Amino acid sequence: MSYSAGIQDAATFIRERLAPVPELAIVLGSGLGVLVDGMSDIRSLAVREIPGYPPSTVEGHAGSWVAGTLDGVSVLALKGRVHGYEGYTPEQVVMPVRLLGALGVRRLLLTNAVGCVNRLFHPGDLVLLEDQINLMFRNPLRGPNTTAPGPRFPDMSAPTDPGINQMIRDTARELGLPLRVGVMAGFTGPSYETPAEIRMLDRIGADVVGMSTIPELIAARHIGLATAAISCVTNYAAGIGTTQLNHEEVTRIAEQARPGFTALLGAVFQGLAGSLEH
Ligand code: HPA
Repeated sequence: MSYSAGIQDAATFIRERLAPVPELAIVLGSGLGVLVDGMSDIRSLAVREIPGYPPSTVEGHAGSWVAGTLDGVSVLALKGRVHGYEGYTPEQVVMPVRLLGALGVRRLLLTNAVGCVNRLFHPGDLVLLEDQINLMFRNPLRGPNTTAPGPRFPDMSAPTDPGINQMIRDTARELGLPLRVGVMAGFTGPSYETPAEIRMLDRIGADVVGMSTIPELIAARHIGLATAAISCVTNYAAGIGTTQLNHEEVTRIAEQARPGFTALLGAVFQGLAGSLEH
């Protein structure tokens, strides 16, 4: 089965502009865009140049793809996540992930900002996502199974890659960085949740809540792209803290957590690069 022509056109364009395309990729969530400042040997392009790429509209997500090396590791960093709340279809939301698959990327890290539902978690915490609850409802794989090579009914018993997760846990321990492990629930947004919705999430087993990542993990599993996801808790979810939620606060806390987050990511890239050699 081949990718749709649109994905192939975009992949051809990117191969020409970013060559050589790294085998490791990261989707940068809120506040993490500056990770690319630490990269050298940079090749970059604006997402609006990529044929068929849904233009990003959200503040803090300047859309560009940046290839380069981070501490000697070749990495493709995606600034320009596509969110459902911007009005895109679930299929458009996962177009970047499918594009990564078409480009031959072999390991993907997703990062995001989330609110914490679990009362033991706090803003600033980093959370490795081991499982997810999809409350966005419209599955990105809905429709004819022709736009990406993968099974009609993909297994989701391990939404994130257990081997990579283990490596990330070991890496955090070696760095002395606290890392929580949890389940993410996702709503489409853009309104934050209500206290009643958060109480429901608590009861059904979610630790954190966000508006991204879930469709991307489904699409990545579908094409067999080994993926892990790390969240930065930027706020207590509605009704758990005493404050109202706003995007500025989310961005501010994400920026505060950045030094630890980037240290972890740098070490994780080293581990991933090692795993690709075998
Ligand atoms: N809810 C949903 N998405 C979010 C939150 C939240 O509390 N914080 C950051 N992204």
